Amino acid sequence: MQFLTPLLLLCSTPLLLAQQYAGDTISATLPTIDNAEVAFFKIDDPSGKNDALTLINYYSHGTDGNRIVESKIQRAVIVLHGLLRDPWNYETDMLNALAMVQDTNINRDSVAVMAPFFPSGSDKGFAYPWTDGLKSGRGSTSNALVWSGSQWSAGANNQYPHDSRNTSSYYVLDELVHYFDNKTLFPNMKQIVLAGHSLGGQMLQRYAAVGDQLETESPVVLWVANGNSWAWLSDYRPLNVPDCPTYNDYREGFAQYVEYGMTYGANLVAQGIDAIKANFDSKQIAWARALQDFGDHASSCAPETTGQDRNERFFFFMKWFQPSCPDPSGTNCDTVDLVDAPHDNGQMFHSAAGLARLFTDNFYGDKSRAYDFGYPRKQQGDDPFPDPSLVNTAGATNYNTYAGGLTYQGCWTDQAPTTAQALSTLLYDNATNTIETCTSGCVNAGYKVAGMSDATKCWCGNEVSSASAILTVDMQCKSACPGNTAQICGGLRRLSLFSAGSPSFV
Ligand SMILES: *[C@@H]1O[C@H](CO)[C@@H](O)[C@H](O)[C@H]1NC(C)=O
Ligand SMILES: *[C@@H]1O[C@H](CO)[C@@H](O)[C@H](O)[C@H]1NC(C)=O
Ligand SMILES: *[C@@H]1O[C@H](CO)[C@@H](O)[C@H](O)[C@H]1NC(C)=O
Repeated sequence: MQFLTPLLLLCSTPLLLAQQYAGDTISATLPTIDNAEVAFFKIDDPSGKNDALTLINYYSHGTDGNRIVESKIQRAVIVLHGLLRDPWNYETDMLNALAMVQDTNINRDSVAVMAPFFPSGSDKGFAYPWTDGLKSGRGSTSNALVWSGSQWSAGANNQYPHDSRNTSSYYVLDELVHYFDNKTLFPNMKQIVLAGHSLGGQMLQRYAAVGDQLETESPVVLWVANGNSWAWLSDYRPLNVPDCPTYNDYREGFAQYVEYGMTYGANLVAQGIDAIKANFDSKQIAWARALQDFGDHASSCAPETTGQDRNERFFFFMKWFQPSCPDPSGTNCDTVDLVDAPHDNGQMFHSAAGLARLFTDNFYGDKSRAYDFGYPRKQQGDDPFPDPSLVNTAGATNYNTYAGGLTYQGCWTDQAPTTAQALSTLLYDNATNTIETCTSGCVNAGYKVAGMSDATKCWCGNEVSSASAILTVDMQCKSACPGNTAQICGGLRRLSLFSAGSPSFV
């Protein structure tokens, strides 16, 4: 009996739950911003070694300037920072977007906005205390969760604190979702939104693939915008890139997953790509695509196998893994919004599409959802929830007929010199190039197919090399013809293709 009492006491010690404001106060010099505070969220250590793991985050205040009243909150928007790890900017941009919503019920008293911080070694001393000269790994002296490099964006385990290094950034997202889904704390919660732009968008796309089935009471939507690369859900790749044996490794595929440092999701990944894809398909994704985003931050060859820039990578991912909306009022309806913006998270949040997905869709728990934004569409299959009042206008935009009855057949890749030329013969390469001179030149030379690339080049052939040419998005053909700048003459390694009917392929 003497032993029983302390044992019972031990067992009845309440579990320290994951929750906001319950983490350690991490002393730091982070920027202060309007209408939000730096808060400390306690994360339950999955390995049970450290009962004070702390996620630094920015957390919104109510309209009176005080902490939110949880019982009034109807929606949580968790916004992820990008490569630069600047959650203060994302919190500010998201709060500015919230202030733009027309419906006055949707404000800082009804919407909680959190920007979690996934700091790296570069943030030492600034985001969390650091002491130089200690043994390797011991310099971080607080319980702040810190990840190595940009590995937070793929779900890897934390690097610090040293005594507990099994906290995946995806486990952190799970804990945040569970927290906001707790109906005791948030009895009026209707919708949880995880939003990521750029590297934050990548983080969520991979989380969609390997993230646990959380079986929440409130629906969860992942708003995924403008990632530089996506994890492909097959080992196929549209583009040939020589000497790229790592093309299918995590983070662009799921090979070498454990080697990357993943424990989260390892059981699912071990089941194979079909299981991963089924998990991915069960998630609700609101895709947001900036139409002026032709940038590329690829640091390895792997993203290049999926498109030559962010615009084309988005296109090819949509083409091979088409989003769907089997039930618009359900929890697995994907949407795709086309936003006329560059690579800019603020412009994405503030767009009509951004405001709908981030704040108004299902705000009242009535399952309402805005139709896909942005017409004309850029490709077949990118309109899972089409606006019935607008025609699906995917397809060719040049309806003229040229010499020999040639008409526009779309924008195609030309992966030469990696593979054969898409078209056999370079007719000319000079500053007179127009659609008329190239098409008539090819027809007069006895060819059936004409293609313009890189503004000045005119290619002819009788068939197209299927090893080299893949239909891509019209936007990739963006070079004005030097002989008539109102016309488009392909792009870099991209052909504006003309033939009488569909060209034949070899
Ligand atoms: C982390 O988790 C893995 C797998 O769950 C386990 O094998 C390993 O021992 C854990 N490491 C630590 C430091 O807890
Ligand atoms: C939900 O929140 C309440 C209030 O903070 C807490 O007592 C309860 O343990 C939480 N439930 C879970 C499952 O975390
Ligand atoms: C461009 O090429 C066409 C076709 O070969 C030729 O007729 C024309 O003279 C060339 N123009 C220039 C400026 O080289």
